[in-house]
Amino acid sequence: MPNTVSLKDISEKTPLFNREEEHNEKIPILDVQGLKKYYPVKKPFGQIRGEKRSVKAVDNVSFRLYEGETYGLVGESGCGKSTIGRTLLRLIEPTAGKAIYKNKDLFELTGENLREVRQELQMVFQDPYSSLNPRKRIGQTLEEPLTIHSIGTKKERTEIVMEILNKVGMQTDHYYRFPHELSGGQRQRIGLARSLVVNPKIIIADEPVSALDVSIQSQVINLLQELQEDLQLTYLFIAHDISIVRYISDRIGVMYLGNLVEEAPADSLLATPLHPYTQALLSAVPLPNPLVKKERIILKGEIPSPLSPPPGCVFHTRCPSAMNVCKMEAPEKKEMSSNHFVSCHLYR
Ligand SMILES: Nc1ncnc2c1ncn2[C@@H]1O[C@H](COP(=O)(O)OP(=O)(O)OP(=O)(O)O)[C@@H](O)[C@H]1O
Ligand SMILES: [Mg+2]
Repeated sequence: MPNTVSLKDISEKTPLFNREEEHNEKIPILDVQGLKKYYPVKKPFGQIRGEKRSVKAVDNVSFRLYEGETYGLVGESGCGKSTIGRTLLRLIEPTAGKAIYKNKDLFELTGENLREVRQELQMVFQDPYSSLNPRKRIGQTLEEPLTIHSIGTKKERTEIVMEILNKVGMQTDHYYRFPHELSGGQRQRIGLARSLVVNPKIIIADEPVSALDVSIQSQVINLLQELQEDLQLTYLFIAHDISIVRYISDRIGVMYLGNLVEEAPADSLLATPLHPYTQALLSAVPLPNPLVKKERIILKGEIPSPLSPPPGCVFHTRCPSAMNVCKMEAPEKKEMSSNHFVSCHLYR
């Protein structure tokens, strides 16, 4: 019998009239909208009256992850990168916003639905030593997530773990070792293996190589790239060092004081950084050719406290190009070229 396809089927499969999808030609696997995380803090000693204060760690951040890509999130220490990763995994609860994954808002899931999604989104942490239980053998640590998610029999779980050990470049005898018997690079491979055993779709890697030697960093980054291709993973790669993020990312988001100030495909961001903060970050990255000289932009002052972020544009207190309007109005996000967005009053 011939298949009849209705107009409704076609419009559902190819939503021609959805401007966002037409624009990006892809449907995001994760769509983060207006994410805010304010941490409440106690009033200073002796103060009884006055407003409740909060640390604005993440303030109205929106971005999308597309299947199979690596999205690099970069910015100075304390700008809210880890907070984004942790809220997406519901390790901490957001103050506001949505994160749409498979047509559901991650922030509204509870019980069994949340458990299912937690399997598909996994996190790799910066410090592989403190994220592994020192009293448990590697095999036990790796089998734990499988037990929690009731995957396989005991024998099957061991087989899965052995296979994953192999995938991350470790040998089967590492199954019986303790974390202190491994090097830093090996421990990070185990951290990666632990997130992979449950067959996730998205990996949030929070500074996964920052604690490692430079030579080991490149090995782990290569491994991440191989695994991405092999297992069709999507990465949110968090780092404070733009020179690492640029190697691995397809697109890069630049954060400053809880705000996403610029977002672009990696090539476009590196070739034409638009935001003065991105320009300063990139000016500090050494060039491969030492004969080519570039001027380093030194930002004045310290990063302000997220307890009382500056009004207007949060970057105006340190911006070399600040104008009057920057002190009063927060800039809106503008698309300057294809998928290259910036929030800055210089671009009106
Ligand atoms: N539980 C908490 N209570 C109060 N403030 C917090 C809490 N956790 C984080 N913060 C604050 O939120 C802000 C963002 O922290 P976060 O850890 O997300 O930064 P980060 O960009 O990951 O920094 P780093 O590069 O150093 O890891 C910081 O000012 C931090 O002090
Ligand atoms: Mg962090």
